[in-house]
Amino acid sequence: MNNLIIQAQSLVKRVGDAANELTILQGVDLEVNQGDIVAIMGSSGSGKSTLLSILAGLEPPTTGQIALLNQPLQGKTEDALALFRRQHVGFIFQDFQLIPTLTALENVTLPLQLKGNYDEAAARGLLDKLGMSHRLSHYPNQLSGGEQQRVAVARAFVHNPPLVFADEPTGNLDEATGDKVIELLFAVREQTQATLIIVTHDRSLAERCDRQLQLRHGLLADVGVVNAAMVDANAVEGGVPNGDE
Ligand SMILES: Nc1ncnc2c1ncn2[C@@H]1O[C@H](COP(=O)(O)OP(=O)(O)OP(=O)(O)O)[C@@H](O)[C@H]1O
Ligand SMILES: [Mg+2]
Repeated sequence: MNNLIIQAQSLVKRVGDAANELTILQGVDLEVNQGDIVAIMGSSGSGKSTLLSILAGLEPPTTGQIALLNQPLQGKTEDALALFRRQHVGFIFQDFQLIPTLTALENVTLPLQLKGNYDEAAARGLLDKLGMSHRLSHYPNQLSGGEQQRVAVARAFVHNPPLVFADEPTGNLDEATGDKVIELLFAVREQTQATLIIVTHDRSLAERCDRQLQLRHGLLADVGVVNAAMVDANAVEGGVPNGDE
């Protein structure tokens, strides 16, 4: 047993048919230590969401290997993967993706229910910490964007997963609201000590992370904050290489 929570080797992702094939990931390698906070940067269309989805076990790579908590994902059935994610993974989407027919509180208790340990007090406590205790019975369409994302943060952490992914969690929020959500996200993460992989365009946010990675031309590199600024400035088009460019 080692201390690596993510071990990904040679991840390739191709989409489309033979006539119209696009290689989004060209052979991504990544190892992440338990407890680290890692920023993934890269221009729009470079494949960040695709990579995050694969790393979280939401979709398979075309080829390559991935193990989370030393458990290989390849070979697992859909049901086994779903079970694995419920136990070990939280995910925060850019567009919140709350369940519209459930209240704020119900959205947050859902992962606990799925895991088989319904604990309303835990959900209430976390929503309270996120400043949402006055909106527990509101439905998502009755909440502001910042409020919806705070509910989504609670949902991602409530079952205490060791690994949480956040895909541009402030991308749909104004700057002040986004900053507040990030502060709360980091506070909750500090409490749980979960490993956090966060896709962001925000350099000041990336600076707060333990590592900064850049996805470019389908490959991932450790760059560090200063270099990330340089790489980004040079990467007018850092998207997938065999597109229409
Ligand atoms: N299923 C698919 N079929 C065809 N093309 C796809 C598919 N999924 C993703 N793509 C393309 O792959 C590229 C990478 O998409 P992805 O959403 O991962 O980028 P991204 O880095 O997250 O971009 P953004 O910063 O805009 O969110 C894009 O050009 C996208 O259009
Ligand atoms: Mg994306």
